[in-house]
Amino acid sequence: MTSSTPTEKQWKKLRTSLAAWYQSAKRDLPWRRTNDPYAIAVSELMLQQTQVVTVIPYYGRWLKAFPTWRALAEAPESAVIKAWEGLGYYRRARNLHALAKAVAEAGGELPRNEEGLRSLPGIGPYTAAAIGSIAFGLPLAVLDGNVMRVLTRLLALSDDISRPQTRAKLQELADAFLDRKNPSDHNQAVMELGATVCLPRNPMCLICPLSAGCAGRDHAEDFPVKARVATEKRKETVAILRHGNRFYCEEVPEGKPWHGLWRFPDFDPERMKRGETLATIRYGITKYAVTMEVVEAKWKGRSPVSMAVRYLTTEEMAEFAFAAPHRKLAKALSIKKAG
Ligand code: ADE
Repeated sequence: MTSSTPTEKQWKKLRTSLAAWYQSAKRDLPWRRTNDPYAIAVSELMLQQTQVVTVIPYYGRWLKAFPTWRALAEAPESAVIKAWEGLGYYRRARNLHALAKAVAEAGGELPRNEEGLRSLPGIGPYTAAAIGSIAFGLPLAVLDGNVMRVLTRLLALSDDISRPQTRAKLQELADAFLDRKNPSDHNQAVMELGATVCLPRNPMCLICPLSAGCAGRDHAEDFPVKARVATEKRKETVAILRHGNRFYCEEVPEGKPWHGLWRFPDFDPERMKRGETLATIRYGITKYAVTMEVVEAKWKGRSPVSMAVRYLTTEEMAEFAFAAPHRKLAKALSIKKAG
């Protein structure tokens, strides 16, 4: 059963409780101490799909390396990818780089309206609402995973949130809930509630400022409802080709996941002779649960030469951005060497 939509009077009550809670409970986060639209944009791109605790050190290092739109626009792509290494979803780094170039070209400032923000590369509905509200006070409601969890519970809404129709309905609800007098604090408060109280598992309904008006309170973990994407198992074999204290590494070409990052090559039986198995590493990417077997190998013929391949020492590997499972492997090689 789904409860009815709150009246404006009920929304107002919820808004007031939320605002009071946020004032006393909000975390002191580095991007809450600035009103620089660039820094806010950096934080919001980093925070998409990544938790606050992970983002904090990256955010500080990023602003030191690239303190302005212009500095970022002028940086080489390899430096941008390196600064993002480990945050995952590298498309966000490329989007931020493209955005910086567009902003620098247009005079160095973001537009202060929704249409202008949405017209820029890398800015979708979430980012436009987050930057627009937090940096410029525009009345735009954000809708991310935290907000969807809070709203579906509040209304005991069991529609599948992976459907576009449900997203549209939730956006309308988020718009109705928005505090138009203080969209910045309101948006951050809903996200903060989702991140710290209205948790996916074991939500803390007893201390929740919205619990009195929450239809899902007694069965909060039933929400949100989301159609499952089945995971598929995948196996791959990665080759360690050694030359003295150097290892063959390659840059992932455009058009492939991880492009612009470095990795050890896939084992290729046509071109390589297989040796001993060194390790097995498991990782997840999109819908795949991957088992990566790592084997020693030798070239059957000559080693390939191109701009996108290098023989690196384990020390030099630190200077390159590696895809996460390959970084793990690089670390294992350096420990093995030391030990
Ligand atoms: N998640 C994404 N942006 C956020 C913000 N500004 N505050 C809290 N959580 C967030």
